Parts: sequence; structure tokens; C-alpha cells
Amino acid sequence: MIITVTNTKGGVGKTTLVANLAGYLADLGKRVLCVDADIQPALSSYYPLKTEAPNGLRQLIFEASIENVVSQTTIPNLDLVYSDDPKGMLQNFILHTADGRQRLHYTLEQIQHDYDYILIDTQGAIGPLQESAIFAGDIILSPVRTDKVSATEFNRGTVRIVSEARVMASRLGMQIGMLYAILFGVSRTRDANLYAEALTRLFENQQYDQIRLLKTRIPDTAAYRTAASAQRPVHTIDMHTRGKTPCALEIMSSLAAELFPVPPPPSQGIS
Ligand SMILES: Nc1ncnc2c1ncn2[C@@H]1O[C@H](COP(=O)(O)OP(=O)(O)OP(=O)(O)O)[C@@H](O)[C@H]1O
Ligand SMILES: [Mg+2]
Repeated sequence: MIITVTNTKGGVGKTTLVANLAGYLADLGKRVLCVDADIQPALSSYYPLKTEAPNGLRQLIFEASIENVVSQTTIPNLDLVYSDDPKGMLQNFILHTADGRQRLHYTLEQIQHDYDYILIDTQGAIGPLQESAIFAGDIILSPVRTDKVSATEFNRGTVRIVSEARVMASRLGMQIGMLYAILFGVSRTRDANLYAEALTRLFENQQYDQIRLLKTRIPDTAAYRTAASAQRPVHTIDMHTRGKTPCALEIMSSLAAELFPVPPPPSQGIS
């Protein structure tokens, strides 16, 4: 199963979400691959590497090949395709190549049987590389901050490009997964609660066909930053709920249960 994490806005928590959900699933014993499709390679250095492959994202897209693209992180069961496109050449390539937007999808199909979950991180902007990541996703997951700008941008940006990608994909005989929004960095302020409620109502009232707001919310806590500095999955350092804010272990478990009510069939990879 491929999960693409995207939002046209920067700094909303995409990389944090990919790294920690991937870390949680890997800890459950699932075989997980992270693909860093952001030209700023934050996910690529989120966890230390045990082995570094000679190739990264460019090989997947320029060459449509999976040869030597998989690096291993020090987290058991968690592999990575790192981002190696600092000049953003892939954007142009995808734009000007006939099957550009489908390439990531087709290339990941070649590797998919080795993994239970593949998580793709994207850059917070609109572009052909983001579209190709959306094309590849069985599930599109979008963190949304609970402030006015983020809520508006989600509607105007992410919802629009996913809808446009759906139209484009169906013309090509492809299908794009459901878009799940998750409220991210929800602080315990009155403002954050008002926007959270407004977003919840928006989803309830508009009866979107292919968009759901998840019940799980990621709270605004220092644990996520601490875990990133320690290069560890947050659920391994924030395991006990004290007070009103649920611990990261509880959050990741609830998120995984909501996203994957039926776990994917076991991978055929080497265990
Ligand atoms: N739950 C949280 N509570 C508080 N801060 C958080 C939380 N999760 C992440 N952050 C902080 O928010 C910032 C942005 O997060 P992150 O880098 O994951 O966003 P992004 O969407 O990937 O950004 P970009 O668009 O630049 O790639 C980081 O400094 C991160 O440490
Ligand atoms: Mg990021």
C-alpha cells in the first residue's frame, strides 16, 4: 500500500508525519519504505542510515529503475529512497516527458511487493513531482494546521490539485486514492479549537465524496521536536499519557487503526 503525504503549504508537518507513521509501522514489524520526494531532503536525514545506496529518487524517475535505490535506516524494517535532486531537475523532466507523471507509480509497482507500506513525502508547493506522488498514492494523507491561513490554503490548494489529478488520472485509466485530512499541531488554545471545529463542520456539511477528515488529531507538543532531534520515532519516547494530551504512542496507534482498518496482505519480502 502506498501512502502519499502532501499539502501545498510548507511547514505543516508532512515530514514529521511520514517519519513517525513509518517508524511506528516498522516497529509493529511491518516492512516499510519511505520515499523522499522533496528537493529539500529533510526526510532523507531524519533517521540515521545503516547502509547508503548509490542511487536515490532520480534513479526512480529519470531511469524508471529501482536498481540500487534502497538505503537502510538504523530503524529495523525501515528503508529509504533518499532525495538527490537539489536543483529540482525532476520537476522539469516530469513536465516534459510523455509518461512523466505516471513514472513514480510504475516504478514503485516494481518494488511494492517487498513492502507492506510505502510512504512518500512531498514538497509543500504545487508542481509535477507532487502530482506524480499523488498519482502513485493508494491513500493521500494531508496534515492541516488549525489556523485560518492553513485551512483556507488546504481548500484552495491541496483539495484542488488532488481533484485535478483525479480527472487527469481517470483519463489515463488510473485511480487516485481517498484524500484523508488530519489536523496537525493542534494546540489547546481557543483559536485552534475554533478552526478545528470549523474544519470538521466543513467536511460534514459538504459531503465530499473522496475526502475524509480523520478523527485522530496530532497535538502540538514538544515530543515531536524532541524525537526529531534524537532521530527516533516519537512513539518510542512519548509512551505515556499524562494529563489531557494523548501521548504519541496512543496517537500513532489510533492513526494507523483509522487509516488501515484492514491491514494489507503480508509482504512477500525477505523477512
Ligand atoms: N506535533 C507537533 N507539535 C509541534 N511542533 C511540531 C509537531 N510536529 C512537527 N512540528 C514542528 O513543525 C515544523 C514543521 O514540520 P515538518 O518539517 O514536518 O513540516 P513539513 O510540512 O514537512 O515542512 P516542509 O514543507 O518545509 O517540508 C518542524 O519544526 C517540526 O519540528
Ligand atoms: Mg517536509
